[in-house]
Amino acid sequence: MREQVFATRITSLFGIRHPILCGGLQWLADARYVAAVVNAGAMGFMTCMSFPGNPERFRQEIRLCRKLTQGEPFGVSVSIGRRPDIKSVLTPMLDVIIEEEVRFVETSGNNPAWLLDKLKSAGCTVIHKVPAIRYALSAEKLGVDAITVISGEAGGHTGQYMHGQIVQGPLAADALNCPLVLGGGMGDGRHLISTLAMGADAMMLGSRMVVAEEIWAHRDYKEYVASLDESASRVVMSTFGKQHRVLNNATAHDVVKLEMDGILDFEAYQPLVQGSLVQEAYRSGDYSRGLIDMGPAGVFAREIKPVEAIIDEIIDAAVAALAAVNHSAATLRRAGTS
Ligand SMILES: Cc1cc2nc3c(=O)[nH]c(=O)nc-3n(C[C@H](O)[C@H](O)[C@H](O)COP(=O)(O)O)c2cc1C
Repeated sequence: MREQVFATRITSLFGIRHPILCGGLQWLADARYVAAVVNAGAMGFMTCMSFPGNPERFRQEIRLCRKLTQGEPFGVSVSIGRRPDIKSVLTPMLDVIIEEEVRFVETSGNNPAWLLDKLKSAGCTVIHKVPAIRYALSAEKLGVDAITVISGEAGGHTGQYMHGQIVQGPLAADALNCPLVLGGGMGDGRHLISTLAMGADAMMLGSRMVVAEEIWAHRDYKEYVASLDESASRVVMSTFGKQHRVLNNATAHDVVKLEMDGILDFEAYQPLVQGSLVQEAYRSGDYSRGLIDMGPAGVFAREIKPVEAIIDEIIDAAVAALAAVNHSAATLRRAGTS
C-alpha cells in the first residue's frame, strides 16, 4: 500500500490514506471486494441490494468484511430507489447496518430524508450520491456528512441532467460547504489531480474497478472489459426519465429499439431490464444479455489486477501528474524571470 500523499476532508472523515472512494456496485461489491478496497487505503461500499429480501445474508457479508479488514471500518451502499414498497424493503437492511455497527453508509437513488435520522442517531457517517448539484444542495440542507456528485459519464443510473464533470465539478465545489467527492468517467491518477484541482476532496471509482481480481464476476467478462474502448457504453431508458448507462450489448440494443419504436408500456421492457439477467451475465461470462452497468471509464481498466495494485497505480500516476503540472509551472516561472 502506498504512503499517504494527499490529505483532504474526505481522507479525515473516513480515516483513509487515499482520497478515493469505490462506490456501490450492484451484485459485485461484496465483502471480499470492499475489504480489498479498505485494505488498499481507500473506502469501499458493499451494496445491500445485492442481497434483496435477505437481510440475514447481508449481515453475514458484513461480518465477513469486518473479518477481512481485521476490524477496520468499511462502508455499505443503500440504493433508495423509487419502488413504492422501498421503505419496507430497506428497513430490515438498515436495522442490520445499525445492529452490526457499520460506520459508513453511501445512500443514492432518491431523497435520503426518511432514513437519515435513523442512521445518524446510530452514529453512522452518511455520504449521499447525487447526479446533479440541485440534489446536492438539498442533501446538504438535510445534514448528510458528505456528498458525491456524479456526471453523465457514470456507469449505472446517471440522472436526467448528465452534465460533464469539467463543468459540474468546479460548480459543485463552489456551491457546497460539506466534503465533496466527484465521480463519473474517472479511472486514472490524472483524474485524481483534476478532481482535487476542481476543489473536491476525493474521486469516486466504479466502472474502472470491475476488473479487480477480487470481483467475483466471470473472468471472460473482466477480460472483455479490459479490451473495451471508450465507446462501449450507451444510455438507455431515457424514455422513462431513468437514464441508465450500460454496456452496449444485445439487451441494450433491444431496449433502444423499443424506445425508438415509441413503446411506452413499461411491461414490454420488463423481460429486458431484470437484474437476474445481469447476475447471470456476471456468473456465466456471457455479457451479451442484461443491462450491465458500465461507463466509458471502463477503458482505464486495461488488465485484471488486485484492487491494491489498481489503487497504487492510480496514486503513482497522480503523483506523476502533479509533478508534471509543477514542472510546467516552474518552466513558466523561469521563462518569466529570464
Ligand atoms: C457495475 C456497476 C454497478 C453499480 N451499482 C450501483 C449501486 O448498486 N448503487 C449505487 O449507488 N451506484 C452504483 N453504481 C455506480 C457507482 O457506485 C459509481 O457511482 C459510478 O460507477 C461512478 O462512475 P464510473 O462508472 O464512471 O466510475 C454502479 C456502477 C457500476 C459500474
